[in-house]
Amino acid sequence: MTVDLAGTLVVRRTDVTDQDAIARMLAGMSDQNLYHRFQTPIGSPPRPALVRHLASPDGAAWVAERDDRIVGHAMWAWVRGAARPTAEFAVIVAESDQGRGLGERLLREATEHAAKVGAAQFLVIVSAANGAVLRTVRRHWPTATTEREGSLINFTLPAPARGRGVRGC
Ligand SMILES: CC(C)(COP(=O)(O)OP(=O)(O)OC[C@H]1O[C@@H](n2cnc3c(N)ncnc32)[C@H](O)[C@@H]1OP(=O)(O)O)[C@@H](O)C(=O)NCCC(=O)NCCS
Repeated sequence: MTVDLAGTLVVRRTDVTDQDAIARMLAGMSDQNLYHRFQTPIGSPPRPALVRHLASPDGAAWVAERDDRIVGHAMWAWVRGAARPTAEFAVIVAESDQGRGLGERLLREATEHAAKVGAAQFLVIVSAANGAVLRTVRRHWPTATTEREGSLINFTLPAPARGRGVRGC
């Protein structure tokens, strides 16, 4: 767990009791941000199965909490059927807290952890309409392989040596 200097922002691993607070964060977000994160309608309120998955994925997840409110979520999950152990990453930050380095910080936790527990390859799936994130991923992961699948772009790259995170998304 990390706490910022003012003591108001905490980044920590999720647990099952976070489901309601995660759902509240998602319910407060714009359709565009939700689409960029999930690439499909998530229901209103968000579907319980989705929120359960966000709190306890087959991998690991983190939340950023400010004044007892969840303002960010990042996770990785194993990709089933992949030829090499592959971790897929995703992140979302509440509009009130975007542009302050929180997405980067959450993603760093996730990538470092996935590399430590044995992911050999990283995957990030970005909507082709998500121009800002596409530019950021291309800038930070210049060696990633890209593959277009309809309206989505898959970025894959070898995981760095254990313990070293990557920047991006
Ligand atoms: C993408 C997202 C998580 C970024 O969170 P954030 O806390 O605002 O991001 P940060 O402040 O940590 O910035 C990370 C990088 O993204 C870039 N970035 C993020 N959003 C951007 C935007 N809307 N316009 C331009 N650049 C943007 C930043 O410039 C930064 O790049 P840098 O490190 O080279 O300076 C947030 O905008 C979000 O939740 N978007 C909706 C969901 C989504 O698109 N998720 C990503 C796909 S899984």
